[in-house]
Amino acid sequence: MLGPCVVFVLGLISGTLGADTRSANPTQGIKPSTFTVPGAFPTSAFSKYFNSPTATSAQVQPVVSDPVTHETYPFSLTNPETIPKNNTDDPHPLPPTASSARLLEQAFDQVLSIAVNPIFGDDSCARCLAGLQAAKFLALAAPDQGPVLAVRLCDHFKFASDCGTSFSRLALGSVITQVVANADVGGLDGQMLCQNFIKGLCPLPPTSPLNLTSWFAKPKPSPLPAARKPSGKRLKVLHISDMHLDPRYATGSEANCSSGTCCRENNIDATAPVPKLPAPRFGAYHCDTPLSLVMSALQAIPPLTGTQRSGFAWTLYTGDLVSHDPDNQLSRAYVEYTETIVYDLFKRFLGPGPVYATLGNHDSYNQAQDAPHAIGQGLAKQFSWNYDHVAALWKHEGWLPDAAVKLARAHYSAYMVRRADGLRVISLNTDLWYR
Ligand SMILES: *[C@@H]1O[C@H](CO)[C@@H](O)[C@H](O)[C@H]1NC(C)=O
Ligand SMILES: *[C@@H]1O[C@H](CO)[C@@H](O)[C@H](O)[C@H]1NC(C)=O
Ligand SMILES: *[C@@H]1O[C@H](CO)[C@@H](O)[C@H](O)[C@H]1NC(C)=O
Repeated sequence: MLGPCVVFVLGLISGTLGADTRSANPTQGIKPSTFTVPGAFPTSAFSKYFNSPTATSAQVQPVVSDPVTHETYPFSLTNPETIPKNNTDDPHPLPPTASSARLLEQAFDQVLSIAVNPIFGDDSCARCLAGLQAAKFLALAAPDQGPVLAVRLCDHFKFASDCGTSFSRLALGSVITQVVANADVGGLDGQMLCQNFIKGLCPLPPTSPLNLTSWFAKPKPSPLPAARKPSGKRLKVLHISDMHLDPRYATGSEANCSSGTCCRENNIDATAPVPKLPAPRFGAYHCDTPLSLVMSALQAIPPLTGTQRSGFAWTLYTGDLVSHDPDNQLSRAYVEYTETIVYDLFKRFLGPGPVYATLGNHDSYNQAQDAPHAIGQGLAKQFSWNYDHVAALWKHEGWLPDAAVKLARAHYSAYMVRRADGLRVISLNTDLWYR
């Protein structure tokens, strides 16, 4: 108690004289103007000491009792040689674990705070990356709330007209939650997500350089083996792509709808009571391909190419069998149906040569997701049903040998075939590098 008292009195004096300090000696007028303390510690100030109160080689350590708590403070508390490294005596309270509902509210509120905080200025990319942090930790801590946050943010920022249908767990919400939970959202992943999916809020980051050192088992041969002698024999090869069969095409429906895929009963033009352009039986420009158009195209190919008897040496199909349905209208069965019918028609109309097919982005469920094998958590094979299905169809149609089927199952439908004529066909799934 004594120490603080002295400081308080001195403080008051210096305050009173403060106005004079620049113009005059502040001690002027006080007599005597100097005081010499006695060298010895005033031992009568305390009744007990932990060390010798008369020694001068160390500071005196009085025994202090607290009149409130009636505790006597131990010497270890002030012993200069036992300064603690951690305070293990006092409680260090933490907030309670938040419920899923509270986590959701906090994540939503944080994204909104970040969206309006002027500290970010016009740096929309920094805002987006910061907002993704809140979403990431919600996705990790309360995954069932990830799609709920997606829907609420979509509604708030007006990303879509029917956010529940587009972003619920039944549509994109589940994949968005997985991506945000696993992405380095504060780094390159976040920049890519903000650039590609969130209104271009970040600039497109430069392409990361590839280190190909470990990609190939052997170095490139040098010199290269001599080129084969051409046989001079011509082969007929067919290349088809992007059939986009629409098995839900509705003849007579609106073929001139205002957005999305037309020629669908569920995509009418609200301003037109009757279709402005009734969908013709053989297809229309703003529509995917009705079966009648697929059939007539396949019927036309052999006579137009003079291959009625020979067929093609082989056919390349470079992807996109499935119609442009939004994710909520798709299903595994719908994708598998399309793969089954189109490959079967290829076999029967274009055979007997093999078709070397690859997947397009519309052939993968959930807008072309390809889960990385490294994702773990029981999710690495969540889309394998699709690779397994196409690989099995390619085997069933007799287009691929077993070794290639095995590769396709294991590598997101990518494979290599070494043909009897010496050519190699390498099929990639470039959906992995969609942009
Ligand atoms: C302080 O406590 C923390 C938590 O137990 C521990 O990690 C840290 O190593 C401690 N520091 C020292 C210096 O003992
Ligand atoms: C490329 O990868 C190899 C091993 O895969 C490694 O030894 C090398 O340091 C890498 N090079 C660079 C530039 O990262
Ligand atoms: C299609 O719709 C647009 C916009 O409503 C209109 O301008 C155009 O004339 C229509 N075309 C046909 C063939 O109905």
